Amino acid sequence: MILEFLSGSPEDTRAVARSLGEALAPGDVVGLTGDLGSGKTCFCKGIGEALGIPPDRIASPTFTIVTEHEGTPPLVHVDVYRIDTLREALEIGLDETLSGEKAVCVVEWAEKITGLLPTDCIRVKLTITGDNRREIVVSAPDQQRFAGFRFRSKRIQPGG
Ligand SMILES: Nc1ncnc2c1ncn2[C@@H]1O[C@H](COP(=O)(O)OP(=O)(O)O)[C@@H](O)[C@H]1O
Ligand SMILES: [Mg+2]
Repeated sequence: MILEFLSGSPEDTRAVARSLGEALAPGDVVGLTGDLGSGKTCFCKGIGEALGIPPDRIASPTFTIVTEHEGTPPLVHVDVYRIDTLREALEIGLDETLSGEKAVCVVEWAEKITGLLPTDCIRVKLTITGDNRREIVVSAPDQQRFAGFRFRSKRIQPGG
């Protein structure tokens, strides 16, 4: 299932992410791709909100790669901006982090670790299309639980 959104504000982006977050389950991996400032961390905050995590807890740490947040389920926020090789990723145990079954795992700069992402990874691509405008494309497995996400986020879909 591929869903496209036209976001006109950080609030819109967070609303899309929150709707997706409501469909997520422990063990899910969400891979975010998009340039610096496209809204990956903003999207992560929205997912966190759906899991009961206050948005201001989720930040863009300069050097921390994996941050765990208590939530229902817990959220593991991974930012691999500073990882350059698959070897570095394996050295810090990212393969195990990503195969964990207790938390939802959200990865910023997911394209850097494509080989480590599960095949049923939910992919989110953010593109800057204007000052406050972002195009967001979400690809998720064809599962019933994502139908609810499609419905809840209609307002921000083209023609919705
Ligand atoms: N529609 C939008 N969606 C998300 N962020 C937006 C949007 N419009 C403007 N912004 C701004 O873009 C920046 C996105 O930052 P951030 O989420 O940290 O991006 P990234 O993690 O991709 O580098 C924030 O300053 C935010 O206020
Ligand atoms: Mg970020």
